[in-house]
Amino acid sequence: MLPKLPDDIRTPAYVLDVAALKRNLETAARIKREAGVKILLATKAWAMPAAFPLLDDTLAGTTASGEYEARLGREEFGREVHVYAPAYGPGEIERLIDIADHIYANSPDEMARVLKAVRESGRTNIHVGARINPGYSNATLGGALYDPCAPNSRFGTTAEEIDRLPWDDIDIFHAHALCESLADGSVGLIDHVARTFEPYLRRVKAVNFGGGHFINKPGYDVGKLIAALKAFRAEFGIEVYLEPGAGLVVDAGYLVSSVIGIHRNVGEIAILDASASTHMPDVLEVPYTPTIIGADKPGVHPFTYILGGKTCMTGDVIGEYSFDAPLKPGDRLVFTDMMQYSFVKNTTFNGTPLPDLAILHEDGRYEVVRSFGYEEFRRRLG
Ligand SMILES: Cc1ncc(COP(=O)(O)O)c(C=O)c1O
Repeated sequence: MLPKLPDDIRTPAYVLDVAALKRNLETAARIKREAGVKILLATKAWAMPAAFPLLDDTLAGTTASGEYEARLGREEFGREVHVYAPAYGPGEIERLIDIADHIYANSPDEMARVLKAVRESGRTNIHVGARINPGYSNATLGGALYDPCAPNSRFGTTAEEIDRLPWDDIDIFHAHALCESLADGSVGLIDHVARTFEPYLRRVKAVNFGGGHFINKPGYDVGKLIAALKAFRAEFGIEVYLEPGAGLVVDAGYLVSSVIGIHRNVGEIAILDASASTHMPDVLEVPYTPTIIGADKPGVHPFTYILGGKTCMTGDVIGEYSFDAPLKPGDRLVFTDMMQYSFVKNTTFNGTPLPDLAILHEDGRYEVVRSFGYEEFRRRLG
């Protein structure tokens, strides 16, 4: 469905499409209802507090990558706040105890630190989880770059070390192993964990199957996930969490940009006010070529351009696309699927202005939630 964006919006802008987000949330609500599991938002992938009220009915809370995201979840979302990091910095666990209610440890040594801090705090309502490396590789994106179980991964206690964990003190078994995985990946992980780690699952109150479940990606068989989750719950009788990020906001928004110049080398190059390097770093990191509404692969339409940002980085290239008409300064280009891992990762490299954060409401109203000017660039330079 094409977004009905007003013609006169300032670019660049990341725009959340509320109608699309609500469609995604219906999938999450179905999984929650039919499988009887709890779903958390992984705020590392997408965090737009202005839109959090839309998620409130469906999600049980948020899951954080450390203190700041945990605080964001506590202050802006409420409900359950889970947190995991491969290691916690000095004092971080103690501070997290005042913010989060579910704290996961990466290793037996981190677990000892977490349990000691929880004991000393006197708090009895903190749930402690162990992140396990389940030895299950299914990341469909970027190979080892996004595979939490890649060789020498720093994520989670391995099977060799697992008996060093004090299982009597552990509430949750955590196994995050997926990235942009379809249902076969999710089901494969659930089955693998059930088969491989049964004795440990029998000793905990809950399991968290992490993120990477790409539940709203076309082709994801939600019924299959639900069936696997129900079977797991029937077998083990423990609470089950999923903590997707990307799967909740895939295809739920845009990066709207404008052509600001045309350069000729061997071919034609359109320079945009949006940049791969500063505004969509995953385009370079994964790497991938994002979709632009109305454009296609090179040569499909008569006018082909390389699109790039205005930074000094030679590799700040978004991709090569073809268009029906020649591009000219002022033309607007709308990149799709630009909510996940986009504005949470952006930078002001080269003094590049940060895009507006905006919301396209269901009634067509366009609301700019935040604009960033020179001050934002200056402030971050100390
Ligand atoms: C522990 C953990 N949980 C959840 C997620 C969210 O994953 P995704 O956005 O792919 O669903 C990640 C992503 O890296 C993660 O590391």
